[in-house]
Parts: sequence; structure tokens; C-alpha cells
Amino acid sequence: MFNVTLKSSGRQFSVAAGETVLEAAQRAGVALPYSCRAGVCGSCKATLLQGHCEYPRNPPLALSASALAHHAVLLCQAVPTSDLLLEAREVTSVEDIARRQLGMVVTEKWQLASDVTGLRLLPSHGERRLNRLPGQYLDVLLEDGKRRPFSIANGPQADGMVELHVRHVAGGGFTSWVNDALKVGDHLRVEGPLGTFVPREDSERPMLFVAGGTGFAPVKAIVEHFIALGTRRPMQLYWGARVAADLYLRPLAERWAAELPNLQFHAVVSEPVHAEQATGLRTGLVHEAVLVDHPDLSGYDVYMGGPPAMIDAAHQRFLDAGLPEERLYYDSFEYAPDVLAQIIAGRAGFHDLHG
Ligand SMILES: Cc1cc2nc3c(=O)[nH]c(=O)nc-3n(C[C@H](O)[C@H](O)[C@H](O)COP(=O)(O)OP(=O)(O)OC[C@H]3O[C@@H](n4cnc5c(N)ncnc54)[C@H](O)[C@@H]3O)c2cc1C
Ligand code: FES
Repeated sequence: MFNVTLKSSGRQFSVAAGETVLEAAQRAGVALPYSCRAGVCGSCKATLLQGHCEYPRNPPLALSASALAHHAVLLCQAVPTSDLLLEAREVTSVEDIARRQLGMVVTEKWQLASDVTGLRLLPSHGERRLNRLPGQYLDVLLEDGKRRPFSIANGPQADGMVELHVRHVAGGGFTSWVNDALKVGDHLRVEGPLGTFVPREDSERPMLFVAGGTGFAPVKAIVEHFIALGTRRPMQLYWGARVAADLYLRPLAERWAAELPNLQFHAVVSEPVHAEQATGLRTGLVHEAVLVDHPDLSGYDVYMGGPPAMIDAAHQRFLDAGLPEERLYYDSFEYAPDVLAQIIAGRAGFHDLHG
């Protein structure tokens, strides 16, 4: 058993044999940032000030050689081999929210785009609703013990309703089943809430929201939260997809921009078809559009959700544009930890995932 001390807050917790720092922190009620839980997204990056750890599960793929040389560690994979002193961000707003499992019933299923299904789920009879913050995700629990993570696209509701935007992954077991066979009235078992992609209200800075594809789901929940709060902070929302039809809730984002003087919306398509070029859409990659408009990001808070290739590309470019890393909040839509572990073990395909 080793002890971990967090330098900024002085908080301490113990780590059992074979446990990762993140697992031990969660057991102790200390909320450290994370997203993919597989060592590939980098959300859980921290700095090791004293001590040693090893990576018996997945290697720390999200860390560059330079990050490793500067004592960066990935909390979701790092298993201590001594007591540790860490410099890590804490996300205290999610700390008191207990994570649990519950049964939910599908009350609505509809087509958002050709490969995106909208789902609304309510707690099954007798179940209590999930206590959660906007932007968090849940795991759908499959019968074989595996899990599939999906962001919740709406904020907390009195009746416990959660909305999901599920992209059909070619060759993907669960999302193919959702697309082809799931029907209203079916029951799903879920666990949540998960993740630390949540609104940060201890700031007066302007906010940039950057979504790729179904990365709009958690971004929507967070933007709606700030709108409901009546924030006066400037909000710029960039939503990128291949073609306009994939911007499946564009009228909603356009309505926000029309109704709110402090919110601007930019729709960006990377593979425009001829007709779309005339509709005033921006073309190119969504993070490039952000950088054209905001070459200096030092004064912003940035919230970002989307596919790994987009997150990877934007991450370094945004830091190069002056954004402090601790003000970049993101969820990278990786595959589930069991699938990533298999892909990493075989290594084939991993770099395809990350562009
Ligand atoms: C925090 C978070 C939030 C997310 N939120 C959303 C969301 O709101 N909306 C959304 O659409 N997505 C979201 N995702 C992504 C989503 O979880 C995945 O797309 C989903 O898990 C895919 O499940 P599946 O069972 O359909 O595919 P899987 O069966 O997991 O397969 C995924 C892909 O990997 C391939 N594959 C499987 N096993 C192997 C193997 N051993 N070797 C090589 N290749 C393999 C499959 O052929 C397929 O192409 C999120 C991910 C994370 C981490
Ligand atoms: S790398 Fe640890 S949560 Fe993604």
C-alpha cells in the first residue's frame, strides 16, 4: 500500500496493490480529471514530483517523449511503486456525486443524421434518477461485462431523462445494434455519472466551445447550462463535421446565436459538396477555423469534444496559440477501454484511430 499526496491541496489517499492512481483517488472521493481511462487521450495528465510508478496495463501513449522527460504521468494507467507526490488538477465540482448503476428504458429513438441515432432514456420503474453535472457521460453496461461510453447531451432533468447522440461505428457491436435493432421500450443498464468534462464557473473569461461530430452532445449540455445561468461571458461555438447534413442540430445552434447577443455560432465542414459552399458555411478543419479567428488563445477557457484525431490535432495547436493547458477541458471520443486495450496490445490500428 502506497500513499499519494496532491501538492496543491495537500490531500492524501492510499493506493492498494495493482491499483491505478485514478482508481484509488475515486475510491477515496478525490476527483482527478479523466476521460478515456485507457492511456490515450491525455486528460488525466499530471506531474510526478516525487516517487515512481509503472504502467502494467496500457503504455502511456498520450505522453510524448518530452512530456515523459518532464515527469508527466497518466493517472488512469499509473500504478505506484513507491509513495508519490503529484501536481494534479482536482475537479472538486464532481466530487460529491456518487456514481452508481441503474436500469433505464428507451422512451424515444430517432434519426439525427444518416449515421447518428438520438435516444432518450428514463429511469426504469422504481429507479432513482442519476445525480450528475452537464457534460458528463455514462457507460452502457453490456451483457458480456463490457462497457460503452456515451456523453449525455442534456443537463440534469427532474424526471431523470438522459439524451444520447450515438454515432454508428462501422464494425462496432453496440452502435450497430443501436442503429439496427434497439427499439422504444427496450431496457439498458448504465453506470454513471462519469468524467470531468463539466462547466467551470470560477472564471469570467470568454469561452470557446469546439465540437466535432457527435462531440456536440456534451458541448450542447454545457452550453445549455451556461445559457440557463444567464451568463454574460462571451461564448463562441464552433461545430465541425464532414458535410452539412452531419451538423445534425444546426438549427438549435443557430437559434442560440440569433437569440443571445453573447453567443456566436460557426458551422465548419471539411468535405463540402458543391451546393454547400454557397450556403455560407465555413470550410476546412474546425480547429483551424478557431485559430484563424483567435490566433491568441491566452485569454480563453476552451471546451472541446469530438473524435480522437480532432482532439489530438487541436490540442497542441491550441497550446501553441497560448492557451494554458489547465484551461483546455475535453472529452476525446475514444473506443471503450477493453477495445483500446486489445488494439494497443496488437498495436495495429491505433495510429489510424488517432489520425
Ligand atoms: C468519454 C467518451 C464519451 C463518448 N461519447 C460519445 C457520444 O456521445 N456519442 C458517440 O457517438 N460516441 C461517443 N463516444 C465513443 C463511443 O463510446 C464509441 O464509438 C463506442 O464505444 C463504440 O462501440 P461499439 O460497440 O459500437 O464498437 P466497438 O465494438 O467498441 O468497436 C469499435 C471499432 O473498433 C474495431 N475493433 C473492435 N475490436 C477490435 C480489435 N480487437 N482490434 C482492432 N479493431 C477492433 C471495430 O471494428 C470498430 O471499428 C464516447 C467515448 C468516450 C471515451
Ligand atoms: S489518458 Fe488517462 S483518461 Fe485518457
